[in-house]
Amino acid sequence: MEEILSVNDLKKYFTTGGFASRKDLVKAVDGVSFSVKKRETFVIAGGSGSGKTTTARLILRAIEPDAGTITFDGVNVADDISLRKIRKECQMIHQDPYASVNPRMTVSDIIREPLDIHAIGNAEEKKRLILEALHEVKLEPAEEIAKKYPHMLSGGQRQRVAIARSIVTKPKLIIADEPVSMLDVSVRVGILELMRELQERLGISFLYITHDLATARYIGHKIAIMRNGEIVESGPINDVLFNPKHPYTKALIDSISDPDPDNLKRDKEINDKDLD
Ligand SMILES: Nc1ncnc2c1ncn2[C@@H]1O[C@H](COP(=O)(O)OP(=O)(O)OP(=O)(O)O)[C@@H](O)[C@H]1O
Ligand SMILES: [Mg+2]
Repeated sequence: MEEILSVNDLKKYFTTGGFASRKDLVKAVDGVSFSVKKRETFVIAGGSGSGKTTTARLILRAIEPDAGTITFDGVNVADDISLRKIRKECQMIHQDPYASVNPRMTVSDIIREPLDIHAIGNAEEKKRLILEALHEVKLEPAEEIAKKYPHMLSGGQRQRVAIARSIVTKPKLIIADEPVSMLDVSVRVGILELMRELQERLGISFLYITHDLATARYIGHKIAIMRNGEIVESGPINDVLFNPKHPYTKALIDSISDPDPDNLKRDKEINDKDLD
């Protein structure tokens, strides 16, 4: 299987604090290497402040790395052309589906934005692509939903709009940074199932960022455990979660969540029952 993304010895240090003599150095990302294969979901898990989001922002060059290389779809991301390619073919989904969209834009405008940015299609083609994306994420009737504003939708529907927006440019990789952590437990599985379906149907690879090991196991193939800017352990997801080698992984499993995805389903069933 071919690689879609390969990150090698990525580093980003931040200096914080006011006075030069008292500046603290935060090693947010400190020598991170991993690769994601085509049609694979690679999970980065770790506690708060471990460097997960910074890693994502470095990949998309929202911030410049201090060191390291990023190879996307066989191309070293180094010049403007490769940067344009990764920004078009690698999209991001954020934690808060409400904060990441402009409340004054309609669903149609929100999904159109990346098409405008990357100059894809004329007005008619854009309209077709927007409706197609809404069908893909199962927001029906698509024509009706397209005219709505974000506040008229539920949290789960808004995250589906964010996913529609992320797939409309036909990306090869989606970076999903805690995409379900703000959603009600009852709608989480639906969103994760949608991501899995899109992967199967459209061949999209995912970089799934989370602190939640239950959702990680539900959707992931491989996992890297991050702590203080470093990957302490990585491998196939069941190996790492059921036979952890590093004490930090063990602590994460014990403290943060229940790694058994059956319990996620059970939570959903319990929640679905409550709704009847
Ligand atoms: N722009 C910045 N300036 C200074 N420090 C930063 C900046 N961005 C991130 N950091 C620091 O880098 C470290 C890693 O932050 P990051 O947001 O990547 O963690 P995270 O794993 O995504 O955490 P969370 O699970 O809370 O989202 C933290 O100590 C954070 O305070
Ligand atoms: Mg984060």
